[in-house]
Amino acid sequence: MNHPRPAHQTETSFGTEDNGRIVLALPKGRILKAVSPLMSGTGMAPAPECLGGDSRKLRFPTQDPQVDVVRVRSFDVATFVASGGAQVGVCGADVLMEFDYPEIYAPLDLGIGACRISVAQPAHLPHDPQEWKRWSEVRVATKYPAITRRFFAARGINATIVHLHGAMELAPMLGLSRLIVDLVDTGSTLKANGLKEVETIAQVTSRVIVNRTALKTRPEQIDRILSRFRTALAASS
Ligand code: PRP
Ligand code: MG
Repeated sequence: MNHPRPAHQTETSFGTEDNGRIVLALPKGRILKAVSPLMSGTGMAPAPECLGGDSRKLRFPTQDPQVDVVRVRSFDVATFVASGGAQVGVCGADVLMEFDYPEIYAPLDLGIGACRISVAQPAHLPHDPQEWKRWSEVRVATKYPAITRRFFAARGINATIVHLHGAMELAPMLGLSRLIVDLVDTGSTLKANGLKEVETIAQVTSRVIVNRTALKTRPEQIDRILSRFRTALAASS
């Protein structure tokens, strides 16, 4: 696994000019929608154009002049925070499990974006856990190669990974793999594509994540942001 270099090695070498501003990375898509009401409660709500519309901008001011939001893919939230490009982020537990970055500290579960990582297969095939015990290998389509390898390795099965970034529900019907490992929320995407969930690997919610170096070098700013998330979360529940 290639872990990005920690913040103290990259900040000066690439000449970032944030004037002491904190960069908060938010994942675009479903989690961004779910986290938006909470962001208002933190006093760090990003400018409205962050939430959609036609803007091609990726970096937005927030209600707090000391905090900017960047809107990136969910997997990239972890990479931006691990590298120190962003000091704070909101990230699904699925992404944290997949990368396992030592530079990331994940102190606060927001309880939003709840779903699970599961194994699914064609609905018309029987699922027999005893049969799995006889397998030595299996092809699996997923955007989570590390999680998938670990899950099957723990069962003595070597998973051959077909690494896709979306639409893995197509893989079994098009002959790419026997199984998929993906997020399941309502289950309607699996159903619509002739698949069924057969094993749950992990429950997933979104967490506030922090770069460990930033926590040491800018403790007051980071603590303030964490306590604003805690306050907003308490007020919303
Ligand atoms: C996610 C996930 C599943 C679907 C699960 O895909 O990869 O396909 O949502 O939700 P459901 O159980 O409620 O149907 P998403 O639409 O976020 O897009 P992507 O796979 O292209 O990232
Ligand atoms: Mg999908």
